[in-house]
Amino acid sequence: MAAACAPTASKMPQKKDVHTFAQPERARVHHLDLLLNVDLDAHQLLGRATWKITAESDADTLILDTDRLSIGEVVVNGKPASFTLGTTDPILGTPLHIALPKHRAEDTLLVEVGYETHPDAGALQWLSAEQTNGKTHPLLFTQSQAILARSWIPCQDGPGIRFTYNANVQVPPHLMAVMSAENPQKKSADGTYAFRMPQAIPSYLMALAVGDLAFAPLSERTGVYAEPAFLQACANEFVDVEKMVQAAESLYGPYAWGRYDLLVLPASFPFGGMENPRLTFATPTIVAGDRSLVSLVAHELAHSWSGNLVTNATWNDFWLNEGFTVYFENRIMEAVYGKDYADMLAALSHRELLETVAEFQKSAPNDTKLAIDLAGRNPDDGVTAIAYEKGFHFLLLIEKTVGRPRWDAFLNGYFAQNGFGTMTTEQFEKLITTELLTDDEAQKIGLDEWIHGTGLPANCPEPVSARFAQVDALAAPFASGGTVAPALKNAWNGWSTHERLRFLQSIEGATADQLRVLDQAFGLTATGNAELAAQWFQTAARAELRSPELAAATRSFLVRVGRRKFLTPTYEALLNHGQADLARSIYQEARPGYHAVARGTLDALLKP
Ligand code: BES
Ligand code: ZN
Repeated sequence: MAAACAPTASKMPQKKDVHTFAQPERARVHHLDLLLNVDLDAHQLLGRATWKITAESDADTLILDTDRLSIGEVVVNGKPASFTLGTTDPILGTPLHIALPKHRAEDTLLVEVGYETHPDAGALQWLSAEQTNGKTHPLLFTQSQAILARSWIPCQDGPGIRFTYNANVQVPPHLMAVMSAENPQKKSADGTYAFRMPQAIPSYLMALAVGDLAFAPLSERTGVYAEPAFLQACANEFVDVEKMVQAAESLYGPYAWGRYDLLVLPASFPFGGMENPRLTFATPTIVAGDRSLVSLVAHELAHSWSGNLVTNATWNDFWLNEGFTVYFENRIMEAVYGKDYADMLAALSHRELLETVAEFQKSAPNDTKLAIDLAGRNPDDGVTAIAYEKGFHFLLLIEKTVGRPRWDAFLNGYFAQNGFGTMTTEQFEKLITTELLTDDEAQKIGLDEWIHGTGLPANCPEPVSARFAQVDALAAPFASGGTVAPALKNAWNGWSTHERLRFLQSIEGATADQLRVLDQAFGLTATGNAELAAQWFQTAARAELRSPELAAATRSFLVRVGRRKFLTPTYEALLNHGQADLARSIYQEARPGYHAVARGTLDALLKP
């Protein structure tokens, strides 16, 4: 009976998502009309979420996820409805049970929830004017992935549940609001903004930012938002975005989301980037001035296919989102900047993979599995180099085994057939065994070990980079001699950020004296490049290089930048090499400026 009108199997959640209370097979949302009033003084959103839902005829309850929301009233089909908040789980928050009236399975019900957010809502970072570039207006941004959407919208907060949305957002008149939706390019006169998002997305892609923002076009369909004083630098950094979109489209099919814009946030943004549909959120630390860190844009853009079109069904399948995206990022970079460049990125990924596997094999071997089991844990625990880099290497092995023509043809079909749907690890495994690989090829790859095994299979590809071979050739004599030869000096000046990073990684083990010489030659302590700075502070801390300038530079970097990928290893390097006091003192100063996501990780590391 249901078969005829049911959506195709791949578009239905296929397996239990342990990170949502929702029971979408009983009652599920389809569309959201969201009213928001943004109170930048009280650090609060006043909201009204009106959900269009359907429910099985015998379902008497709709379950939404919430996290520290105060619920004012609930109205169903125009009539006040009874609701209860269930038991709070420390990771998942609180289920909101809403009583449904008698209905038929084909009816659409309207469920309105009036609510207020908590000032400490996990998804919301409220920046004071002081924490922005312009220093005159406060700024708000959201970060919903993985399960933080529930802290600003009562919703069915699982990646397998998609909905369209419209929103009306009220902000102070001199500020602009933007969302993961069709966006304004100018401020409105009265601070009201209307948004439309006609493509269905899961809740983790709900996004909002409010601040003193301005827009600059990059091409007909791409552009960048940033604070006005920073806008030109951003537009200059991202000149190649249109080329990236074109490269991506010729690889995997049409861009499905209309416009592709970027929003460059203040430095406390806890991630490098976040693939909010139509509007990638990005850290300003990729605006290096020399366009050397734009692979991050390729990464977030690639998510427009891997992740946003074909979405991990649950957070246990997260490697499908990120492993595919690292792979596609590399293909986009190769198409736009050449194979030499892409090879550098792959080689950096390889080294990171080896380090992470070695580290996890000691402490948490099960966390080296692609198909990870995060039941009872925060999905954030799965955000590791395993999902990203092991996932990438697995796909690279498939590519190498079947050759690019077959692999690319498969991927085109994959996106065309599964777009606006979900994918589980098991479905993917089945797809490649039935549609792509011969038995021999599947055997040779060792699918089961790759997907379900721990550690790194022996047939893991080892990407090599010709440009890095030159770096390593200069790193070796430096490591043994400790002087900066003219050849090294020359080469360094011509190197990209990636080559410089590789050099620092390759001289790991150098003494403090050697590093001092290096710093004198290349001004590392004073570098304005955040990737390089983070690497340098770690290398220096591990070699126990100490100086007041270095301590001050490390402090000012850690206070200014909130990107977790830089923070965690830098604090760790200090902690593990005799500078726990410095680490704690810096953290005390920096903590109020960090996003809750970063504070969560660092509290565990640094709380005495
Ligand atoms: N979607 C992720 C960020 C994320 C993952 C946020 C899980 C919360 C939970 C984003 O696409 C990402 O991978 N960002 C990386 C970029 C890098 C790999 C180029 C980052 O922030 O460092
Ligand atoms: Zn990503």
